[in-house]
Parts: sequence; C-alpha cells; structure tokens
Amino acid sequence: MRKKIVAGNWKMNTLPTEGVELAKGVAAGRAEVCDCVNIIVCPPFTHLQSVIETLKGANVAVGAQDCATESKGAYTGEVSAQMIAALGCEYVILGHSERRQYYGETSETLNKKMERAFENNLKPIYCVGENLEEREAGRHFEVVKAQIEEVVFNLTAEQFAQLVIAYEPVWAIGTGKTATAEQAEEIHAYIREVLRSKFGAAADECSILYGGSCKPSNAGEIFSKENVDGGLIGGAALKAEDFLAIGKAF
Ligand code: 13P
Repeated sequence: MRKKIVAGNWKMNTLPTEGVELAKGVAAGRAEVCDCVNIIVCPPFTHLQSVIETLKGANVAVGAQDCATESKGAYTGEVSAQMIAALGCEYVILGHSERRQYYGETSETLNKKMERAFENNLKPIYCVGENLEEREAGRHFEVVKAQIEEVVFNLTAEQFAQLVIAYEPVWAIGTGKTATAEQAEEIHAYIREVLRSKFGAAADECSILYGGSCKPSNAGEIFSKENVDGGLIGGAALKAEDFLAIGKAF
C-alpha cells in the first residue's frame, strides 16, 4: 500500500510567530484527518525549530524546502541537510520548479542535494513538472522523464524506497489553473511507468503527489485517481482549515 500524503509547502510566507500559529491550527485539527494520511508541513528555515516544537506529538511531520549541495564549510547563506536533520525534520523538498527557474537548479545540483539528504536520513520530496510552453508543445512526457532519469535513476533501491515524487506542472502553480484529474492521472501513471523501468515493482510503492492550485474544492477529484497519492500544496496550505480540508479529501 502506497502512503497517502498531503504536504504543505509554505514557500517564503509567514513570519515565525505566524508560522507557529499556523502549525497550532494544523495540530488542533489533525485528528479530523484520517491517520492513514501522512500530513507534512514545510515552513521556511527560520521557523523549522519552533514549528517542530509546536507539532511534537501531533502526528504531523516537518520538512525543509531545500538543502545545500555541500555538507558543511565556507558556503555563506546555505543551510545543510545535516542542520535540518538535527532539528528533527523528516523530509526535504528538492527540485521545486521555483528553485529550478529562479535559482538555476539543475540535475547536477539536485544529484548532490539528493546525496546530502540521504546521508542525513531525510526523505526527499522530489519535484518534477513541465512549463506551459513545454505542455503546449506536447513535450511534457519527455521533460518529466528527463527530470526523473537524470536524478532519480542515480538512486539505489534502498534510497528510492524513501523517495516521494511531486508532479507540479509549472503552469498550474499559483495560477488558479489546475490540471484536470485526467491530466494528472495520465502523467502520474506515466511517471510510475518510467520508475518501473528502473526500479521494478518498487515503483508501485512510491507516493506520487500532485501540486498546482490544489484546494479543498478540487482535491477530492484529483486524489480519487489511481496514481495520485496526495498533494503538495502551496497557497491553500497557509490556512490550517483549507489544508486540513485537503487532507480530508481522500
Ligand atoms: P500552489 O498550490 O500555490 O499552486 O503551489 C503549488 C506548489 O508549488 C507547491 O509546492
């Protein structure tokens, strides 16, 4: 059985006090969401620690939104996987399209980040997805395939067993434009097929999340699809009530 997951990517939103309030709201309503759904929140680095403390015993896991390519040393401004793990984070988002687009992340950098994450027992949530131009040119399958082959195919079977994948079409992120449930299922099934070609039956155990304008009103339909195992939520994760409503949408 694949894990069902609803993860909130807070991006560069909330001040530390606001983040703690949001985490309290998630903790307070957690019991209304099935235990069978893994709930994860990914706050900014500055409040990872206070959010982790707030969520102790609440059955909500915490992830970071990125980690450094290097282990430690003279890399001003960077935050290492080891630091994140030491705080008690369980997950780390890697390869988000905003990092690929605005900070020049490539498969090369992501291979390093993946290694750092696994060295520190962090479970990566690896993001893939095409932009509008690629979708319109019908290239979405090849784009996503390359993003997987160039990074995920370098993992060992043991590492792959810890990986979560998030399919986030760039044209659906923060735009209010959601992929239809059929579009999501089509590409999620394709992603699983690509994973199967390398990892065999283990591909059936890998959770593949959908991300991009996912909200309480559309989550149920998207999550009902066979190969959609949950969501990576941006805007709607900033309100505990909406985020939890998405958790209840399975
Ligand atoms: P939105 O839900 O705001 O579209 O963001 C999706 C996303 O990028 C999650 O990582």
